[in-house]
Amino acid sequence: MAHARVIVTPSDIIAPVSSRLFGSFVEHMGRAVYTGIYEPGHPTANEQGFRSDVLELVRELGATVIRYPGGNFVSGFRWEDSVGPVSERPTRLEVAWHSVESNEVGLHEFAEWAETAGVEVMNAVNLGTRGIEEAASLLEYSNHPGGTALAEQRRGNGRDEPFGITLWCLGNEMDGPWQIGHKTADEYGRLAAETGRVMKWIDPTIELVAAGSSNADMPTFGTWEKTVLEHGIDVFDHISLHAYYEENGDVDSFLASGVGLDRYIRTVADIIRETLDAHGSERTIGISVDEWNVWNQTRFNEVDKPPLFAGDWNEHPRIIEDEYTVTDAVVVGSLLMSLLRNSDVVSMANLAQLVNVIAPIRSEPGGPAWRQTTFHPFALTARFATGDVVSTRVYSDLQHTAGYGDVSLLDAVSLNDGDELTMLLVNRSTTEPLAVAIDVEGAPIASVLYERTLGVPADGDRRSSNTQARPDAVLPLDLGIVTVDGGGAQVVLPALSWSIVRFATRRPSLTASTRGKDNA
Ligand code: AHR
Repeated sequence: MAHARVIVTPSDIIAPVSSRLFGSFVEHMGRAVYTGIYEPGHPTANEQGFRSDVLELVRELGATVIRYPGGNFVSGFRWEDSVGPVSERPTRLEVAWHSVESNEVGLHEFAEWAETAGVEVMNAVNLGTRGIEEAASLLEYSNHPGGTALAEQRRGNGRDEPFGITLWCLGNEMDGPWQIGHKTADEYGRLAAETGRVMKWIDPTIELVAAGSSNADMPTFGTWEKTVLEHGIDVFDHISLHAYYEENGDVDSFLASGVGLDRYIRTVADIIRETLDAHGSERTIGISVDEWNVWNQTRFNEVDKPPLFAGDWNEHPRIIEDEYTVTDAVVVGSLLMSLLRNSDVVSMANLAQLVNVIAPIRSEPGGPAWRQTTFHPFALTARFATGDVVSTRVYSDLQHTAGYGDVSLLDAVSLNDGDELTMLLVNRSTTEPLAVAIDVEGAPIASVLYERTLGVPADGDRRSSNTQARPDAVLPLDLGIVTVDGGGAQVVLPALSWSIVRFATRRPSLTASTRGKDNA
């Protein structure tokens, strides 16, 4: 058995937990929209053609803000195609994913779905093939109350009140040569800043997200952020960061992906700080991690993509429908922990994506919908992450990884809400359980209110997954081994596991002098 010790200091607050960290993403890609959220004729479809079984799972997942409509898709998208009578909407080649887009679901339908799901829409504008005029028109169409041609067009299309969309992404992954309309940092930075300025003149209440790097290995990473920020330091509210991780034959490095994300985030935070300081700016620019997940990209690029892109053009082909394992779920849980730990600088985050496309929710046409393994750590974190993220010092046995050097076997994050403390814990060892001693400074632990662990099932292995035939093969189970003793707690984490424990804590008994202060 390996060992670790954790000291939590509730009075040392990193940041309040933001519900915006639990965002997700629906792209017009593969089966995310068609036969994902939308399938008229499905036994559970509502009047608008949206699948109620999927809607229920979206609510259970606890997703808050959904980025839409792309992704790479948005860089070739003409938003005007997606409004007005459905029968008059054009069918187009969708070049980013070698597909055919019918535009049957568009802005109005998606906004209606989002309202039913209880989520906020985060809309992206096309800065690949388009520019200021189209972005400004889309914003006016969406958010202006009435009395102009575009606002009246929206009202004529059945939406009297503005959509009131606050969050706007200025393009997508414009640093990537795979992107339609790929640009240099200067080209993109200038276009994004000028577009953003006009958008804020139309609606000053919006928040703008500039496109940062597509991943930390991009050759332009760092200089891209600095150059883009220089152009729009007065107008951007957030800059994006995209991060996907995969196993690639080295499970120990894969399990330490959260260390990689921590470093990536802190590097971008430093660049933001330095650029703001250099301009004498007192503004805050947050990091929008608006695409993050586990994604077997090597398989997509080397195996699935070549025949897809050389083949026929089809509507909603199956693209990147990764089937997630227990190991993937532990990594997803720890990536979410990294986002929480860095929430002093991370302003929002979107798990990419929501349904079918590298998603926590899977659905089959005419068939069931089910929870992938990765659904569980996300849903439990979204449910229990309340209050403040607080300081958590970890002293742990180490493990060497090729990707990140020596990393602690234990990953831990703590969230304090009044007299309740939630801890998220990962054991990165694939072979040994980990005994963890927990101390909470100034607020002794009184009892365990809730605990669950997600790990290798008794009848499975670390590659176990949930499938249509066995949708509940991997479920969060009782952790079982948690003891509370003398104000601290002992937890034994199974090998390769993600766990959540919610404790009740006690305020220390008041001395005469502090009681006097309390009553004053
Ligand atoms: O989420 C899948 C794709 O990953 C998105 O379209 C793109 O932005 C990223 O490269």
